Amino acid sequence: MNITVAEFVMSNSDVNKCPKPDKPEYAFIGRSNVGKSSLINMLTNNKNLAKTSSKPGKTQLINHFLINKDWFLVDLPGYGFAKVAKNTRQRFSRLIFKYIENRPNLVTLFVLIDSRHEPQAKDTEFMEWLGINEVPFSIIFTKADKLTKQKLNESINTYKKVMLESWEEMPPYFISSSSSGLGKDEILKYIEETIKMTRE
Ligand code: GTP
Ligand code: MG
Repeated sequence: MNITVAEFVMSNSDVNKCPKPDKPEYAFIGRSNVGKSSLINMLTNNKNLAKTSSKPGKTQLINHFLINKDWFLVDLPGYGFAKVAKNTRQRFSRLIFKYIENRPNLVTLFVLIDSRHEPQAKDTEFMEWLGINEVPFSIIFTKADKLTKQKLNESINTYKKVMLESWEEMPPYFISSSSSGLGKDEILKYIEETIKMTRE
C-alpha cells in the first residue's frame, strides 16, 4: 500500500469524543520516546504530521489521522518513562487503557519496543494484559539504525526468548527505522492485508 493522503483529524483527552469508529483503526503504543510519532511520520511520508521530540512525554493526547480517506492511524502518549512526572504517567496510562477498551474498530495495536533495550517488565506486562484482554497486537522494534546488524539480531533474539517464556508463539513483529525507512513496506503491507480481512 502507498499512503497518498494523510490528514490530521483531531486530538482528544476523552475517548468518547474520538471519531466515529466506522473505519479500520491502527494505533501506536509504547514507552515515551520509543519513536511512535516518528514512525507515523515515516509511514506517511510527512515529517511534520505527528509531533516528535527528543524529550519524553511529547504526545499527550489521542491523535487521530485519516489515511487515504479509508482508515485511521492513531498516535498515543507513551507509558512508563521514568523521566515523566508520576501524575502525568498515571494520566497517560488511564487514557491509554480507556482508549484500548473503547475502540471496537481497532484492528491491531502496534506495540513499539526500542530495539536497543533488553526486555522490560513495563512492556512485557503490558503485552500480557493485552493477551488476557484479547486485544490483537503486533510488535515493532524501533530505531534499528542505532545498532549494527549483529547487535540488532542479538537483541531481537533475546526479546523472542523472553516472549516465548510466556507466549506460545511470537506475535507478528517488524523491525523499523524512521531515519532509514526500514520496515515501511512490511508494516504497510500488513495493514493493507488486515484491512482486507476486516472487509471479507
Ligand atoms: P512520546 O510522544 O514522548 O511518547 O515519544 P514518541 O514515542 O512519540 O517518540 P518520538 O517519535 O517523538 O521520538 C523520540 C526521539 O527519538 C526523537 O528525538 C526522534 O528523532 C528519535 N527517533 C525516533 N525514531 C527513531 C529512529 O528510528 N531512529 C533514530 N535514530 N532516532 C529515532
Ligand atoms: Mg509521540
